[in-house]
Amino acid sequence: MLSRAVITLQTLALFAAPVTAGLLLSSPGGRVLHSASAYAVFTVAVVHVVTAVLAWRPGGGSPRPILYAAVFLGLTLAQIALGIAQVKTLHVPLGVLMFGMSVLQLSRVSAGRRTRVAAVSQG
Ligand code: HEM
Repeated sequence: MLSRAVITLQTLALFAAPVTAGLLLSSPGGRVLHSASAYAVFTVAVVHVVTAVLAWRPGGGSPRPILYAAVFLGLTLAQIALGIAQVKTLHVPLGVLMFGMSVLQLSRVSAGRRTRVAAVSQG
């Protein structure tokens, strides 16, 4: 439940990034907005790692969500570095890739929840 909320927030923050990037390219105040959306993605990525660690029980669930969240945080840091260095040829496609990964992860988490709800209602 918590991880689904965090991944939803992450996906929304990643959707805001190209929107604010458009503003960055077309209006004077756009840079501040794109930086704010970058901070939002970074904050959610850190919260994602923390919630993935807290949700994991040693000897219980799979540690895979922790690995996914850690890789995602690494990509976010790379994305910030590429943005600051103005390497647009890598920065823009990596942003698209991160959004795609987040949507995929959200659909996986939601499908897993539907399966559990169906199993419980069947008794
Ligand atoms: C598809 C999504 C994205 C697009 C199209 C995009 C596009 C851009 C563009 C065109 C720039 C300006 C580069 C320049 O000044 O030459 C930029 C800068 C930047 N981007 Fe993005 N970006 C995206 C996603 C992200 C994400 C997800 C993050 C962070 C997690 C991010 C962080 C930054 C940063 C920190 C800068 C530098 C801002 C500054 O110099 O003040 N971007 N981005």
